[in-house]
Amino acid sequence: MKNIILIGFMGVGKGSVAREMIKNSDYISIDTDDLIESMENKKIKKIFEDDGEVYFRALEKDVSLWLEKSVQNTLRSTGGGFYKVKNLKKIGTIVLLDSPFKEIIKRIKAHPNAAKKLKKRPLLKDLKKAEELYEQRRPEYLALADVVVDVTKKSALDCTKEILKKVKKYV
Ligand code: S3P
Repeated sequence: MKNIILIGFMGVGKGSVAREMIKNSDYISIDTDDLIESMENKKIKKIFEDDGEVYFRALEKDVSLWLEKSVQNTLRSTGGGFYKVKNLKKIGTIVLLDSPFKEIIKRIKAHPNAAKKLKKRPLLKDLKKAEELYEQRRPEYLALADVVVDVTKKSALDCTKEILKKVKKYV
């Protein structure tokens, strides 16, 4: 078993898929945003407010180096910008959860906790800017991914089954 790294835009469902993957495989999961929040003892939103995005990106880099060196055989669920760390390819098989921007926003808004989900993500505050960020990132996500799963209108369980099938040749 080798590492699987879930990448993809904010709100695409990396957390939900990771939770379903744990139930349906032998993987345990590590969430890079959770690691950062516990390292700093602060919510991501507060890190952005107090220390800024550049500081947050440096924390993502620290986490990626630690993951490369010290943790094996895990599923890693990552923040939407984590893919930029330099050693991503060395960490494991990269799985992109992909969906059009409009579908991602629809998905967030349909959630019972929609307001909270939007509020905790500083880069979703301005949806126009968020869409620009999506357009800029999507080709970069696609270029990095070993496996692409279109998650549009699929349940987390269906995505999990598809991922487990597609990663077989890598892990
Ligand atoms: C970010 C995505 C967030 C979080 C931070 C920055 C990004 O994680 O890491 O707010 O740059 O796309 P999610 O993708 O889980 O929302």
